[in-house]
Amino acid sequence: MALFSIDRDKCRSDGICAAQCPAQIIVQADRQSFPSLLNGAEEFCIRCGHCVAVCPHGAFSLSGMTPDECPPVDPGLLPGADALKHLLLARRSIRRYKKTPVSRKVLAELLDVARCAPTGSNKQQVHWIVYSQQEKVRRLAGMVVDFMKIMLPAAADEAALRRFRRIVDAWDEGQDRITRDAPHLIIAHSPSDLSFPAADCAIALTYLELYACARGLGTCWAGYFTAAANLHEPLIRELNLPAGRQCCGAVMLGYPLCRYYRIPARNEAQIHWR
Ligand SMILES: Cc1cc2nc3c(=O)[nH]c(=O)nc-3n(C[C@H](O)[C@H](O)[C@H](O)COP(=O)(O)O)c2cc1C
Repeated sequence: MALFSIDRDKCRSDGICAAQCPAQIIVQADRQSFPSLLNGAEEFCIRCGHCVAVCPHGAFSLSGMTPDECPPVDPGLLPGADALKHLLLARRSIRRYKKTPVSRKVLAELLDVARCAPTGSNKQQVHWIVYSQQEKVRRLAGMVVDFMKIMLPAAADEAALRRFRRIVDAWDEGQDRITRDAPHLIIAHSPSDLSFPAADCAIALTYLELYACARGLGTCWAGYFTAAANLHEPLIRELNLPAGRQCCGAVMLGYPLCRYYRIPARNEAQIHWR
């Protein structure tokens, strides 16, 4: 099957698809010709779909990706810069959650947005594990605490030691400072041999966090969990990731117990203009 096809009744030979193709594998000799595939270049297609998405006439079809299968961009639905900026600034890491679980439908919707996050070479290899039920999440947190107990003697410095000790002590007193009694933990994993597994997962999780915030949900990065996930044997066994994959990040998720009224101050951007 051909990599792409052109609807010659719709194509205006404007050359936009050829100009925008990131792999530069679409060629068009002149304004009288139709776009075609550069000889032998099929293997360089990253299936980003820009050719389909950028054609104003709906003339370009990538195999398995026709214009009809790609929803139109609705400018009226795009948030204004002020609204988006406010969301970005107003999002907070949430550490107290209602017990109410998030429905499978909403969780699936979050992941459906997160899957559209950019990935290096459009590999789209971020996979997910979703833990639901607070007891299951807490069990994972307990494994992280076990790991911390083992690692305490190897703490990098006094400050780290004190920080870990407080978390472990809190756990022993019944407080979960690892996953914060969240009803869900969403874990992202990716093949270790990709160019950017950690970046791919972090960006996807960030998409998820921001969309969750817009949907009235709360999230918080589970950094202690992530640090232990690829090192602590019981946790590795529990996650049971396919061979070659690594956990690159996780977020707690649930309905926030309280709302935030202000945007806290942050450091000024440190910039070297060159
Ligand atoms: C990579 C990463 C790991 C984090 N790990 C944890 C964590 O394990 N526990 C936690 O309570 N917060 C964690 N956080 C949340 C940060 O503490 C939080 O982002 C920071 O204090 C700023 O607060 P804000 O997110 O509300 O702006 C983590 C954040 C990031 C980006």
